Formats: sequence, C-alpha cells, structure tokens
Amino acid sequence: MTDALLAGKHVVLAVTGSIAAYKAIGLLRLLTQRGATVHVVMTESAKQFVAPLTFEVLSGSPVTDDLFSGHHDMKHLSLTEHADLLLVAPCTANTLAKIALGLADDVLGTMALTLQCPLMICPAMDGEMWTHATVQAHAKILQSRGVTIVEPEKGELASGQWGQGRLATEDTILTTVQTVLQPRKDWQGERVLISAGPTQEPIDPVRFLSNGSSGKMGYAIAEAAAARGAEVVLVSGPTQLACPVGVTRVPVVTADEMLQALSARFEWATTLVMAAAVGDFRAKESYSHKVKKEQWNGEALQLERTPDILLALSAQRTNQRMIGFAAETDELVEHGQSKLHNKQLDMLVANQVGGEHSAFGNDSNEVIVLTPNTAPSSIPRMPKQQLADVLLDRIKILSTSPQSQRSASQPIL
Ligand code: CTP
Repeated sequence: MTDALLAGKHVVLAVTGSIAAYKAIGLLRLLTQRGATVHVVMTESAKQFVAPLTFEVLSGSPVTDDLFSGHHDMKHLSLTEHADLLLVAPCTANTLAKIALGLADDVLGTMALTLQCPLMICPAMDGEMWTHATVQAHAKILQSRGVTIVEPEKGELASGQWGQGRLATEDTILTTVQTVLQPRKDWQGERVLISAGPTQEPIDPVRFLSNGSSGKMGYAIAEAAAARGAEVVLVSGPTQLACPVGVTRVPVVTADEMLQALSARFEWATTLVMAAAVGDFRAKESYSHKVKKEQWNGEALQLERTPDILLALSAQRTNQRMIGFAAETDELVEHGQSKLHNKQLDMLVANQVGGEHSAFGNDSNEVIVLTPNTAPSSIPRMPKQQLADVLLDRIKILSTSPQSQRSASQPIL
C-alpha cells in the first residue's frame, strides 16, 4: 500500500539505545511498505538491543553504525545529502542532548550537523528523565531550530512504573512523518516583498562604494516563501545568485533604485522583509568618466547619506508586516532594539557581521530575533535555507495579531 507522500522518499531511520529499539522494526516496515527507501543508522548502544542484521534484511541495505568505516566513504555526508527526512526513533535522553548540543562523536551526531533535510525526533525514556529540566531544555532548543519532536506517551514503562516516556505509537509517528514531508503551503495568499544583497553607489563608471553582503539570506527567504505558497517579489542588489524558482526578481544597483522598486510594490505586499545591506553613504559627486589616477590629488571623497528605505516605507504603510535585519559587529541586542523601535518594525533579525562567523557571505547564520512584545530569542547557527523557514514560521505568528504588534511598536523618538 504505497503512499503518495512517502513513495520514492529517502528516509534515514536512526535507532538509539532504548528498550524501545525493537519498535523501530515496525516503523521500518511501515515506511518501506508505503514506498519509502529506508536506510538505518544505529548507535553503539542500539546494537545491544537489536542486531543490525534485522534492519539490514528488512531495509535491504547495510546499516551505518561506524563513523570511521571505509577510508574515504563520508557516510554521514552522502546519506544526509540525499535524505528527505532524518527520523530518530527511538531517541534516548543521551542522543537528544548530543543533537541539541552539537556533539559529533558518532555517526548520528555528525549527521545531525550536516543535515539538509527535516529532522524528526521521537524520544523514549524513563518518565522522570523525560520531565527532567535538562531533557526538556534540550527538546526546546531543538524545537526552536525547527526540529519536530514527537512527544513520548504516557503509560507503563520498561521499569514497571507509569509515566510519560513510551515511544509514540506507530500511527502517531507515521502521521507526523507525513505532515513533515508534506510541502507546506502556509504562505499561500500572502504577497511577500523581499530585498536582498548589497547596494552599490558609483564613484565613477568603474568604482563604487558597497559592502560584503552576498544576498544569500534574502534569497533563501524568497525561495522558502515561494515554496510555501507565497507570491514573492525579490528586489535584489548586485549578487552572483540565481533567481529562486517561482520568484520575480527586480534587479537594482543603488539605494535610490532599491527604494523606488520597493516603494512601487509596497502597497501590493502583505509582508516586507528587508534583508538587503543598504549602503548608508554615497559619493556626493559621481563622475561620468573614469577618474584617472593622475587627476586625484589626495582630497577626501565627499559623502552624503542615502535614504533610509525602511523609514521611508513605514510612512507609506497600510497594514504590511515589516521585518528588518540588523548587521552589527557588537551589542546586537541593544543596537537591534533601537532599530526595531526607530524603524517601527514588527520584527528585527539581528546578526553579527565581521569576524570569523560573519553573516556576510556565509552559508549558515545565527541570529537574535527581536519583537516589540517578546524577550529577545536566539536562533542557533544553521544553514540559511533552514533559518529562512524558521524565520517564516516566526513571521507567520506575527500575522495573528498584527494590530496589537503594531501599536506596541511606535517609535520612541
Ligand atoms: N536599511 C534601510 N535603509 C538604509 C539602511 C538600512 O532600509 N539606508 C535597512 C536594512 O535593510 C535593515 C535595517 O535597515 O533591514 C537595518 O540596517 P543596518 O545596516 O543594520 O542599520 P542602519 O539603519 O543602516 O544603521 P547603522 O548602519 O548605523 O547600524
């Protein structure tokens, strides 16, 4: 009985050392019967409960259990590269902690750090362990990164005690797998205007003032919003990136051009995501011909301010959600809070620029999300594609009460 959502999907089923490890056999059969290809990964302690051979026979492929097997076979990379889902079932408190904290001392921990697909975790443990503050904190960290946690159920546990710790039923896990694999269309009906990349302010036809923004974050948000059903217009400064599928791109160069392009489409939009690194200064005077070096006698370049696009757009605002980004080298929260208020935003995403982990150019990013009514919330480092989905989840919540969010975001000026 194949299933349209599971047919042809590649699921990596990771089994850890819980007494419920035997239940993974039933899960494996359910998934393969519905048309998924399943590859099983086992931790060392899982092998104390079930022999790898059982999974090898039922999945039709060798079990991965050793980070170092084969000299050049980067198993953790090749498996996650092609996977549609990493399903950890059952997941012990130890593995939950490892994944939450990013420990990579075995194949599963390493895989979790190189993941490009959704991660779903089904904990199973003693009831007192599951309700322990440490385990709960680890589960929350993972949820904040977009990981799906299928809570254990209440019932009789292996210890003979009653508590919440039994692996969720096959039915619950299967339904959640289907939900996770279902392409989400929760942005359908929304019109999202996104700016991305740097701006360039000419000095002469060959020289310009700009910054190191790659545009990757804004492009990832545009791609994710379009995949989730939104109509997306991407106003982009000069970048090397390809236009994401389903997105309309409007190329611009200067801050003025960006303002005009956004302003013309702002009324249409339900959401504005201002991810561009707009240059704050331009040359007071730019030359129509290339300035020869002999012509320059050492005088300083005269600069003037470019328009603040977010401020200009907030004056035109009807009922759009407005999300800004802040590029900061220090004091992210303090600087971010003042931008959130001064620019009258519903949300500000503060990220670090400069230094080893600069948001500029990197494929991954870690940010602090600020909103007028909630405490600052950190989103740990993750690939920008994944971060885009987490940010869209947070932006979506804003829409449930846009008026109250907005009234609380009056400028403090
Ligand atoms: N922004 C804008 N217009 C500008 C400069 C920035 O709309 N002329 C937007 C950015 O797209 C971003 C937010 O404002 O969403 C914050 O940008 P950032 O560069 O961090 O701050 P600035 O306002 O430029 O302040 P400063 O450079 O002094 O930190």
